[in-house]
Amino acid sequence: MLEPAPPFAVQFVGAGPGAAAHLTLGALKALTEADVVILDRLVGAEVLALIPAHVERVDVGKEGFGPSTPQSTICDLIVTHARNGRRVVRLKGGDCGIFGRLDEEIEALEAAGIGFAIVPGLTAATVAAARIGQSLTRRGRNASLRILTGHNMAGFAEQDWRGLARAGEVAAIYMGKASARFIQGRLMMHGAATDTPVTLVENVSRDDERVTGATLATLTQAVAGATGPAIILYGLAPRPAAATLPQLKEAFA
Ligand SMILES: C[S@@+](CC[C@H](N)C(=O)[O-])C[C@H]1O[C@@H](n2cnc3c(N)ncnc32)[C@H](O)[C@@H]1O
Repeated sequence: MLEPAPPFAVQFVGAGPGAAAHLTLGALKALTEADVVILDRLVGAEVLALIPAHVERVDVGKEGFGPSTPQSTICDLIVTHARNGRRVVRLKGGDCGIFGRLDEEIEALEAAGIGFAIVPGLTAATVAAARIGQSLTRRGRNASLRILTGHNMAGFAEQDWRGLARAGEVAAIYMGKASARFIQGRLMMHGAATDTPVTLVENVSRDDERVTGATLATLTQAVAGATGPAIILYGLAPRPAAATLPQLKEAFA
């Protein structure tokens, strides 16, 4: 028999980009109190290891351009588990509110009259910037930060290229590997300097993290060998002595 769903039957939880060190305490609490965790491909192995063994896991992982669980199936799963009286965590890589299709899932819950809460997470761009020792905003350089996607449902995503081409602009470009040549072309067409610094940070917050410093002119070469998820930090160069924090990793080992 179906039980009424509790007020926050579903929690949307941001897992951070990979390492346990980048998971919030709120997220950890939600994971340990869950009955079922419905998770994405981008959730890091260290975070997965923190889900208690008795908690059911449902993997609805989505590959960039590959096979994926249809969004409607994911929404149905969340609703069904909540209606069955289970405490559901919908776990997404990074922050669930950034390119996470969060609204579609919330709307399914609203339509079903099921309560939800959002536990935010660290998004990949925040951690990537920290990795290269840079600030995403800087007085006198950029008073705004753009969060862009390289592609959307229609293909390569059009953006305000003219605005972004101005000196000093900074953008965190998600899902930008496949569209790197398109982005480069659009920015150059709008007058961006070819020596604008661009940094690719691949597998942020994971053991195989890799930082590649480039310029707008060499962006396509920089993405050529990247196989993992990657953030393109446009307008930022790695600071030479940028520190990673191994002690954080040890603390969570
Ligand atoms: C569907 S979006 C999800 C973004 C996620 N919600 C976040 O806040 O980071 C997937 C894209 O996020 C970026 N991304 C996610 N995790 C990453 C990681 N660990 N390292 C580098 N980029 C990552 C990549 O650009 C990837 O193609």
